[in-house]
Amino acid sequence: MTKFSENIFKIRYAIRDLVPVAKAVERKGVKVIYLNIGDPLRYDFETPRHIIETMYKASLSGHNYYSDSQGIYELREALSEHLKSKYKLSVPPEHIIVTNGVAEGINFTIRLFTDPGDEILVPGPSYPAYISTPMMYHAVAKEYRCIPDEGFIPDVDDMRRKITPRTRLIMINTPNNPTGALYDQKILKDIMDLAAEFNIPVVSDEIYDRIILKGEYTPPYKFADDVLYIGLNGFSKQYLMTGWRLGYMYILDKSGDYVDRVVEGVLKQARSRLSPNTPAQYGAIAALKGGDKHLGELIRKVRKRTELFYKLVMETEGMDVHKPRATFYIFPRIDREIYGDDREFALNLLKNEGVYIVPGSGFGRYGAGHFRAVTLAPENLIEESFQRIWRYLRSVKSLSQKTGS
Ligand SMILES: Cc1ncc(COP(=O)(O)O)c(C=O)c1O
Repeated sequence: MTKFSENIFKIRYAIRDLVPVAKAVERKGVKVIYLNIGDPLRYDFETPRHIIETMYKASLSGHNYYSDSQGIYELREALSEHLKSKYKLSVPPEHIIVTNGVAEGINFTIRLFTDPGDEILVPGPSYPAYISTPMMYHAVAKEYRCIPDEGFIPDVDDMRRKITPRTRLIMINTPNNPTGALYDQKILKDIMDLAAEFNIPVVSDEIYDRIILKGEYTPPYKFADDVLYIGLNGFSKQYLMTGWRLGYMYILDKSGDYVDRVVEGVLKQARSRLSPNTPAQYGAIAALKGGDKHLGELIRKVRKRTELFYKLVMETEGMDVHKPRATFYIFPRIDREIYGDDREFALNLLKNEGVYIVPGSGFGRYGAGHFRAVTLAPENLIEESFQRIWRYLRSVKSLSQKTGS
């Protein structure tokens, strides 16, 4: 008898769920404005040339084999130096594992720490993979509330309430996707104290740590002396290399009790996927050593676009939002009386006006009543999106006046 995994068919990936609808709208001749995908390369940003050239030369000179499953030593050495110079962290190359994107780092860590029925605490709203990945391994993601009125800062009391004897990991994500929140020192210290109290490892997704628009990034590991800490970061966003699929994990364990087991447990998985992309790893070394001019430009543009997006949200009836302090996302709240629920709103806006935003409930139950948009599109497209949103608003208002609802 043919039987499929039940969990797999429950998985949803809200960021891309509406693509077939968008394609149908395009076939009708409407130019869809895509505000759904957090990929700068889909807008007016490009991978720095020196990275591409290094990858090309590596490939020409024969680096086209499977590499070490942990990643080539030169890249892990460059990452170790990078962690030292940018973050003052002392991590030997042996405690660094190169992954096919942070996505794979999330996968490896969740699989490493869970058996079926085990639990992982994830932020709510949550980056969708924190919910779908545990499902793939028959573990359970439990969302801890992030407080909307305080700019989506985690509610540590809620986190505490959700710890059970089966809690295996606490996931944190600052700067945060989808909310653009940047956690401050106090909250990070509280989270780490809680993790230490229950002896629960922390996985920190730091993929946006250098895309800061306002304020300062506090690295969570500063407070993790008594915690087994796994940092995840990558090349997709900060080096404009999304399609290259490269990330890395680093392990901090002051106790020294767990680090070898973590490395071994990750490598057992890594070996079965053979290796990360070898020529791309050479490109990544060039990225780490090649300066950050592109990053300054990215931040300058994103800052202006986020300001504009924020202003337009605040001018729109029935919407409000905390100004994002980092990342290239914005997560406005919508008034249900006017717009209906967030899924309805996203679908109707796409069908009627060709603006593709992601419904907030696609980021877990705490995301309901919101939508997520990327702030990467050029200003004229952001303005055009709001012309369309306002036209949509006028149409739903006149409809509700006619029906008296
Ligand atoms: C919070 C977060 N983690 C991980 C990822 C995946 O990144 P990568 O391209 O490195 O797999 C993303 C991508 O959008 C993200 O937003």
